[in-house]
Amino acid sequence: MRTLIKDGTVVTASDTFKADVWIEGSKIVGLTDPALRAAQGQPDTVVDAAGKYVMPGAIDAHTHMDLPFGGTNSSDDFDSGTVAAAFGGTTTIVDFAIQSKGASMRAGLDTWYAKAEGKAAIDYGFHMIMTEANPSTLEDMGALVREGITSFKMFMAYPGVFLVDDQQIFRAMLRAGELGALITMHAEIGLPIDVLVQRALAGGHTAPVYHALTRPEIAEATGTERAIALAEMAKVPVYMVHLSAQRALERVMEARDRGLPTYAETCPQYLFCTEDDLRGDPGDEWKGAGYVCTPPLRPAHHHDHLWRGLRTYDLQVVATDHCPFCMKDQKELGRGDFSKIPNGMPGVETRLHLLWEGVREGRISMNRFVEITSTAPAKIFGMYPRKGSIAVGADADVVVWDPEKKFTLSVETLHMRVDYSPFEGRQVIGAPAAVLSRGELIIQDDQWVAKQKQGRGQFVKRGTFAL
Ligand code: URP
Ligand code: ZN
Ligand code: ZN
Repeated sequence: MRTLIKDGTVVTASDTFKADVWIEGSKIVGLTDPALRAAQGQPDTVVDAAGKYVMPGAIDAHTHMDLPFGGTNSSDDFDSGTVAAAFGGTTTIVDFAIQSKGASMRAGLDTWYAKAEGKAAIDYGFHMIMTEANPSTLEDMGALVREGITSFKMFMAYPGVFLVDDQQIFRAMLRAGELGALITMHAEIGLPIDVLVQRALAGGHTAPVYHALTRPEIAEATGTERAIALAEMAKVPVYMVHLSAQRALERVMEARDRGLPTYAETCPQYLFCTEDDLRGDPGDEWKGAGYVCTPPLRPAHHHDHLWRGLRTYDLQVVATDHCPFCMKDQKELGRGDFSKIPNGMPGVETRLHLLWEGVREGRISMNRFVEITSTAPAKIFGMYPRKGSIAVGADADVVVWDPEKKFTLSVETLHMRVDYSPFEGRQVIGAPAAVLSRGELIIQDDQWVAKQKQGRGQFVKRGTFAL
């Protein structure tokens, strides 16, 4: 099966050029001059990309499908969540498998394989959340890395649930260094945060906005600094997930200026939403529950710092931390106690739409857009050059992007299985015209067009850290 994407402008992390893209089976096999098309033979399928950009399928390196959290499960599973991702131009996700406390990582990983197999519509890999770093789990890291689970998340937050102490983090970092694995950090210091939460509740402060007021920026900045210090002592790279705030970014910048292999991602919610969203509407403070995520949304002045970090390479990745909970029955669990609102926001489908605003406004270039949404996560998480580029030999994961297409973000138009949108009614300009996954046209003109949906996604065995 030969597919031709014709007359488009290819945009990679480094280059922008007119070319036809030829695909055979699941791979890109040629990038050719449109003037020489006749010499290439006949395609079986043609995708017209005139006036459009042809970009590598986006990679979302931070999702939580079907995550048990806060007394409920995130409302997208691998079926609905990966379909939604594809409609937004994402062709690979890396989801977080969880080691339950007291259980093995193997058991956690098998649970996640079972959640994804037969359901995922696009390709997927896993990070492993480590809730204990004891001799046996440290040993088990080796088997996971050999299986393609080459990154591990550890938490300084959520005491009693996910939090691990510095000694365990340090041991895991040392082991990761031996294996070529990457430790990713949720770097908010959770023990003092919990005290602030208890004091707020004792003072009768129960509204959603107290989620932000009890998780100050300094808690994230200090956690970030500590994680960097531990990684420096262990002589390993470290990757900060969901960085939200100026001072945390400054810690990353200081480390990078000293030449340390420190990496960080931010998420669209930290670039487009603010603490004010958590306050809800006048007379409806509960609406803020839809914006409860961790770290919390920050005041608006942080946005410019994060955009600058993306522009200047201090931030390498924009992922989504997609972790949706419906307002009805799920966020509801925290009515009257903000600390019981399940943490997380929907986002797997809207990342590219939102970030394209940054391109239109001149905050980032098109090439940087491709880099932070696809190429950099592919490189950092061991999927490059198979994923993350438009290049001969790469998987034909492709987004044909229409820069002028108008689209309204709304529960009515989006596919995520959640009963609200944090961006309800926002009109964006720029959206996918077509999406291909491993050479198969899966979305065209906002319709799923591939024969198969559930289960067509494949597990991506990732390589070790090689930057
Ligand atoms: O609010 C969030 N971020 N929920 C998901 C869990 C996490 O810490 O990433
Ligand atoms: Zn986290
Ligand atoms: Zn997360």
